[in-house]
Parts: sequence; C-alpha cells; structure tokens
Amino acid sequence: MERMEENMKNQRMLFAKRPFGEPEDECFQLDEADIPELEDNQILVKVCWLSLDPYMRGRMNDVKSYVAPMQIGDVMTGESTGIVVKSTSEKFTVGDHVAVHKGWQSYIVCNDDEERLMKVNLDNGSLSAHLGVVGMPGRTAYFGLTEVGKPLVGETLVVAAASGAVGSAVGQIAKILGLRAVGIAGGPEKCQYVKNDLGFDACIDYKAENFEEELMLLVLVG
Ligand SMILES: NC(=O)c1ccc[n+]([C@@H]2O[C@H](COP(=O)([O-])OP(=O)(O)OC[C@H]3O[C@@H](n4cnc5c(N)ncnc54)[C@H](OP(=O)(O)O)[C@@H]3O)[C@@H](O)[C@H]2O)c1
Repeated sequence: MERMEENMKNQRMLFAKRPFGEPEDECFQLDEADIPELEDNQILVKVCWLSLDPYMRGRMNDVKSYVAPMQIGDVMTGESTGIVVKSTSEKFTVGDHVAVHKGWQSYIVCNDDEERLMKVNLDNGSLSAHLGVVGMPGRTAYFGLTEVGKPLVGETLVVAAASGAVGSAVGQIAKILGLRAVGIAGGPEKCQYVKNDLGFDACIDYKAENFEEELMLLVLVG
C-alpha cells in the first residue's frame, strides 16, 4: 500500500469567481493545502477519478435551487472515487475503494459517517465506472425510470440528452425492461452512437430541420 510522503500536499481547485455564461479560467484557483492529521473515525482518501457533471455549472450561480449554491472560496463541488490510504475508522481499512462527494481535490479527509461516502465493490465495475454507469448517473437513470417514471412494458420512452451519462443508461435500462426507446441527441454522429452502440430503437437529431415532425412520427406512428 502507498507510503505517505512527509510533505505531501492536497491540491484543491477553488471556486474563485461567479461566471456569466461559460466559465472562464478566472473562475477557478488552484490551491495547495496541508493534509491534516486524522481525528478519530476519519479516513484519508487518495482521489483517482473526478466526475465533471452539468449540475456543477448550476451550483456556480447565486440562486435558490434544490441544493445551496457554492460560495466563493469553496472547493469546487464534485464526486470522486479513490483509495483509502489512512484510516482511524473501524468501518474502513487502508486499501478500501470508495466514492465520496467532497469536491475537486487530490486528497480528501472525511468522517466515516459522511452522508455521501460509500465503499465500492470493483466486481460491479471499475473505479471510474462508479462515477458513471454504476455510480450517480446510473442510479439517477435507474431510480428515475423505475420509481418515478414507472413505464409499462411495450410503451415508448423518449429520452432527451440520450448520448449523455444519464440518458445513455436510461435508454439501455428501458430496453432491458421491454420498452421502445427513442433518443434525442445533437448531431448525426451522436444519433448513430445512440442507435448502433447503445441499442435504442431510434434516435432523432434535434438540430435537424424536421425534428418536430420526425419526433411526432416516431412516437405516434412508430
Ligand atoms: N449525472 C447525474 O448523476 C445527474 C443526476 C441528477 C440529474 N442530472 C441531470 O441530468 C441531465 C443530464 O446529465 P448527464 O450527467 O447525463 O450529462 P452529460 O453526460 O454531460 O450529458 C449532457 C448532454 O446534454 C446535451 N447538451 C445540450 N446542451 C449542451 C451544452 N450547451 N453543453 C454540453 N452538453 C449539452 C449534450 O447532448 P447533445 O449534444 O445531444 O445535446 C450532452 O450529451 C442534466 O440536466 C443533469 O443536471 C444528472
């Protein structure tokens, strides 16, 4: 297992400025901080993978939402997967693989009862897949479809952003559940990927001129 360097630092990406439109370099500031000694029932995680997701842009705005916005100086929000390299916890041992939502940083110290910390089992997929299809996007797809959408076998399901992390999983789960999956994506290449690689029944390019007619035809006529 990894030997800890005496002078090892935690590299963190801080939120430095609220963007208007697309975020620019000045919105982020790279920072180095000491890694604190662990208190009781804590772990130190070496981050291996970081997920970049669309919701992060929303958190940069100072507006009311289902989660509080980030404040200037915060570590940029985000979920990571990594390896436990130190532990004072009975629940985690050095070498455990975990997913944890503690932002853009190379080392994470957290309590072992942290709400958004979980062990991951690599038999279910790689460490990076635990940020994707067997991670938050996969769970969003699965529970959104089966517990919120509750579609019936044989129904047609239209999936927006079908080539993205959530949409691609939604369509594949839909096919397993016996639905007809129609994707919407931007551009012919993405549409081919959605149909040929992901196995959707059809996919429509929302950038094409006849998008609305195509959608109506596919949904209503089949
Ligand atoms: N990831 C999660 O766990 C999670 C959880 C809860 C909710 N959500 C929500 O679910 C939606 C999809 O998330 P995702 O994680 O699947 O995202 P993603 O993998 O980044 O896919 C987003 C898709 O949005 C489309 N898009 C439209 N306008 C875009 C733009 N200006 N820049 C980049 N992409 C653009 C792109 O497809 P086209 O090019 O085909 O338009 C892209 O594939 C988002 O609204 C997100 O907030 C995600």
